[in-house]
Parts: sequence; structure tokens; C-alpha cells
Amino acid sequence: MRDLEDEYRRAQGPEGEWNPERLRQLLHTRLRGDQVIVVSNREPYIHEKDGDRVIVKRPASGLVTAVEPVMRACSGTWIAHGSGNGDRQVVDSHDRVRVPPGREEYTLRRLWLTAEEEKGYYYGFANEGMWPLCHVAHVRPVFRESDWQAYREVNQRFADAVVAEARSENPIVLVQDYHFALLPAMIRAKLPRATILTFWHIPWPNPESFGICPWRREILQGMLGSTILGFHTRYHCKNFLETVDRYLEARIEHEYSTISFQEDTTLIEAYPISIEWPTEATVASWPSIQACRAKLEGRLNVGSDHKIALGVDRFDYTKGILERLHAVERMLEKCPEWVGRFSFVQVAAPSRGSLEEYKSFQDRIHQVTARINERFGRPGYMPVHLLAQHFAHDAVNELYRGADVCVVTSLHDGMNLVCKEFVAARDDRQGVLILSRFAGAAREMPESLIVNPYHVEETADAMLRAITMPAAEQRERMSSLRMTVREFNVYRWAGRMLADAGRTRLRERIEARVQRHQDGQTDAAPLLARG
Ligand code: F6P
Repeated sequence: MRDLEDEYRRAQGPEGEWNPERLRQLLHTRLRGDQVIVVSNREPYIHEKDGDRVIVKRPASGLVTAVEPVMRACSGTWIAHGSGNGDRQVVDSHDRVRVPPGREEYTLRRLWLTAEEEKGYYYGFANEGMWPLCHVAHVRPVFRESDWQAYREVNQRFADAVVAEARSENPIVLVQDYHFALLPAMIRAKLPRATILTFWHIPWPNPESFGICPWRREILQGMLGSTILGFHTRYHCKNFLETVDRYLEARIEHEYSTISFQEDTTLIEAYPISIEWPTEATVASWPSIQACRAKLEGRLNVGSDHKIALGVDRFDYTKGILERLHAVERMLEKCPEWVGRFSFVQVAAPSRGSLEEYKSFQDRIHQVTARINERFGRPGYMPVHLLAQHFAHDAVNELYRGADVCVVTSLHDGMNLVCKEFVAARDDRQGVLILSRFAGAAREMPESLIVNPYHVEETADAMLRAITMPAAEQRERMSSLRMTVREFNVYRWAGRMLADAGRTRLRERIEARVQRHQDGQTDAAPLLARG
């Protein structure tokens, strides 16, 4: 066993920066090139019909932003819901297509859902039940029996797809998010030796809050099919351990952060998610800060001394967009000298708009925007620009590079990647980040101006402080933020999780070998070469 541990340690490689190459090495050494399968609801590339052509879109999704570069490094298979109206046109007879378009580094396997399935599983149980249940945004979860049925059935369909795509009995399966709480146990039932890493991209609530879910035991049991269950923060891990303690008969080892339930043990661990740090070549391909600034000034029809704050979100009630608008209004009220010299731009990517809760929230935002513009606007000047449309990544990056301030005021957020993208975009080391203390990212980014988004006065003051912050202070804060995001990048997120998976797999191999030895079989071949 000691020899094996030594060999394992040698395979670990040197410490240092995490990048695609290091992740690839880890996959080949610790995981010996075994197959990686990702499962998520949202697909990384959406094919849409545009007249006679089919165009490709990238969805506004933190999950996709984080997992896609990892997949490019692993060359595995990504199973997701085929939601684009042109998706069927580009897949082969097995519903597979190689992506990214033109580079073809991994396989996207699409799974088709009927409108009825999507309504019950995605809109219903996942987004009217689990989403408000896990986010403290004071929106009531809705639990319908029919949605739960659809959720179970769709989880089973994805589990079957994983089994169909598996090329061995022990693939590494990365299950993503609250759409698939039941999937880990379903996969485990068919592939007992699979290594299942589940990552929960949203917060986990305390036991009292979670306890209102009528199917709380089934959900917990489903999740405990995982080998490793990851959350963004220690706090969410602690909430999960306490929830299991409250509702299941399980053994919890706090020292190791493991839960043993029935035959299986699950490691509960925090893996803060992040973004891919842009390479030098990528940065060199970006338009200059001056060009981005000029373009934004042109779009708003303002001069170069105008201060511009920016929000970029899915159009979702958890993002604190309403509170942000109130803070803009309050700042202009308190500091009338900024009327005509300050604008706030809110990009709001359309999201889940067929749900009533989202519709009424989105209407409210339009109304409040109109009211503020009426109150403080004048010919040629609008204090708030609401851009409720999809923006491609490059266009968002240009906005990040052109703005003075980025405002992230989520009422509750697992991590939030907008703040990290903003920091990565600012190679000029200028720009100020205002960040909600209720976003997971606040723990890693204390150099931002941290606010309680419910406290309008505090956020308004932070906006004023941001637009008047001296360049030297901006540089100091931004440099420090950039060091953090660069080091704690998405390859580190995936690398730490996969390294833990490698350790588990090694332990299982050792146990199997010891068992064989005890059973009296002689087996001289080196263990690591066999698996
Ligand atoms: O925040 C949770 C999450 O799954 C993210 O990972 C992602 O950004 C977002 O929700 C996507 O929402 P949807 O897939 O419903 O558009």
C-alpha cells in the first residue's frame, strides 16, 4: 500500500498554476485517461435556425462558462438537453455532435425532451420548486406532484443516457446542478463502480428551509449516490451535512466530512468554482480599453467624463436587480450633482420567461426603470439603460472593459461568475467591483466593495464611492483581485475535484487488491497498471 501511495504522489506533479495542460496530465496520471462524462441540463452550444442557416449560440450560464473549458481539456462526452430549434439538424444518428464548432474537441450528446417533460421537470420542479427552495430570495417554492413525476422520469432518462455512453463499468461522471438530484443514485444502481462527482451550483439552505420539500428524503438519497458531492462554500457543505443529519438515518463523520448511507460513502467538500483565466493570445485579440470605452460612450451618447456602472445577469429575481435600481435612484437623489453625469447599464439575458414569477419580476424591472428615467432623465440623457436581450460573450467583455464599475448585488448566489469575468477583463487594472455579501464570491474577493443588497442606502453609498475612487486605489484593489481569480481558476476547481476522485479510485483499487489477497489469490502484477 505504501508503494502505491508513493506512486500516486509521484503522479501528482508539481505544484503551481492550474491550466488545461496540468488538468490533462492529472487525468492521464491519477485517472489514467479514464472516460469523463458530464451531465447538465443546459447544453454548451445551442443551434438555432436563422432563415435557411443554422447559427450557434452560447447560453448565458455560469455552469457552461465553468464546465466548458474543463471539457475541452478532458475530451470527454457531455450529455445535455438539446433545446435549440436547429439542434436536431446537426447531430449524427446517435444524437451526437462534435464541439466547439470548428475545433471539435469533445462530444456533445443531446437528449430530447417533450414540451410536457420540460414543463414539469425544468420549469416546474427544478425552477419553481428547487430554485426558490435553495435561494433565500423570499419567493415561495411551488411543489406539484406532476412536476415531481416528470423530474423523476427525466432524471431516469439522463441516467440511461449515461449508461449508454459509458465505455467501461467505472467511468467518471460529473453530474451538474439541481436539475439532477436523483441522478447520482440512479447511475449508481446501473454502474456501481462509477465515480460520480456531483456539483451543486446553487446554495444549499438550512435544514428548516429544506424541510418544506415534500420529497426531501428522496432528494437526499438521490444525491448520496455520489462519490463526491461538491458545493461552492464550506457553509453550504455544513448546511447539507445538517440536513442529512436531520432527515436521514446516516452516519456522518465530521472529521472527514463524509456521509455513509446504506452501502455508500459520500465525501462532502467545498470546491469554489471559477472562470478560465484568459491567455495572453486571447487578451491580445480583445479590442483596446479605449476602443471599448468609446463604443460604450457612443451607445449611451455620453462624453468621456461620464461615469458608467454596469450590471450583467440573467433576468432572474435572485440577482438583486430591483434593489440595484433602487440604489441608483437613491444615489441620484442624495447626490443630484451626478444627474446627467452618471448612467447605469443593466444587461438582463432572457431567462425562464414563461414562468409567472419571472414575468411579473421582469415587468416590475421595466416599470421601475421607466420611473427612474422619467424622474431623472432629460432629453439626450437616461440614467438607466435596461438591455433585456442576449449578448454574446465578446460583447459582454467589451462592456466590462468600457465600464467604470461592475455591480453584482445578488440576494443569494452560489458563487457568481460575473464578478470574476469583470476582473479578468480589466488588464488595465482599473474599474471597481461592488459585490453582494450573499454571493459565494464575496469570500474570495474582499478587495471589492462588499454590500448588503437589501440595504439600499449602503449600496447607494458604495456606488458613489466607486465612481469617485482614485485611480491608484482602483489599481491596488484590482491587482489583488486579479491575482486571486487567476490562481483560483476553473482548472483548479476541476483539478481539485478530479484529484479527490483519483484518490478515491486508488483507495478502491487497494481495497480490491487486499480483498483478493485475503481470498487467497496470488497476484503479482503492479496494481496501478491494472485498475
Ligand atoms: O446558477 C445555477 C445555474 O444552473 C447556473 O449554473 C446557470 O448560470 C444558471 O443556473 C442557468 O440557468 P438556466 O440553465 O435555467 O438558463
